[in-house]
Amino acid sequence: MIRYTDLVENITPEMLEGFFDGWRNRPSRETHLKILSNSAFVVLAIDDSNGKVVGFINAISDGILCAHIPLFEVLPEYRNRGIGTELVRHMLAKLKKFYGISLMCDEKPQSFYARFGMCPGTGMNIRNYERQSGNDV
Ligand SMILES: CC(C)(COP(=O)(O)OP(=O)(O)OC[C@H]1O[C@@H](n2cnc3c(N)ncnc32)[C@H](O)[C@@H]1OP(=O)(O)O)[C@@H](O)C(=O)NCCC(=O)NCCS
Repeated sequence: MIRYTDLVENITPEMLEGFFDGWRNRPSRETHLKILSNSAFVVLAIDDSNGKVVGFINAISDGILCAHIPLFEVLPEYRNRGIGTELVRHMLAKLKKFYGISLMCDEKPQSFYARFGMCPGTGMNIRNYERQSGNDV
């Protein structure tokens, strides 16, 4: 059974195997745990049968007006069974007090996010790929 939780305190690096699929410089499991601990809001999907985290979503925030969702991933072998939908649903419920909720994505997944009432917008960003893993922070 898949269980959803926001309790990062109970997570160990060993439970965070296999994320950042396709990234050039992947954060280590320890760095991943630091990212989750430092986030304003987190939702984790845990497979009760093996105790592993199989999906996660995080948000950073000013605590008053705005929240931004930088990371959202489900392990490849757990995709297309509704886990991503549940993670977004739980996260948007946590963020419902905010004026602005944003995330960056390509055109392809826009139809997925539209299911939750999200609208496309234009944006600008910088990506410093030499800083991508965050492992030396
Ligand atoms: C996006 C992601 C988290 C969805 O997780 P999931 O558990 O498979 O999601 P669900 O099972 O709830 O929903 C899957 C639906 O989203 C659609 N979807 C997922 N990723 C998509 C994409 N990149 N483009 C278009 N549709 C996408 C699937 O086609 C599927 O549609 P369906 O319900 O009509 O069959 C997962 O595909 C993933 O981890 N992808 C790699 C990381 C990533 O792209 N993160 C988001 C960054 S914006």
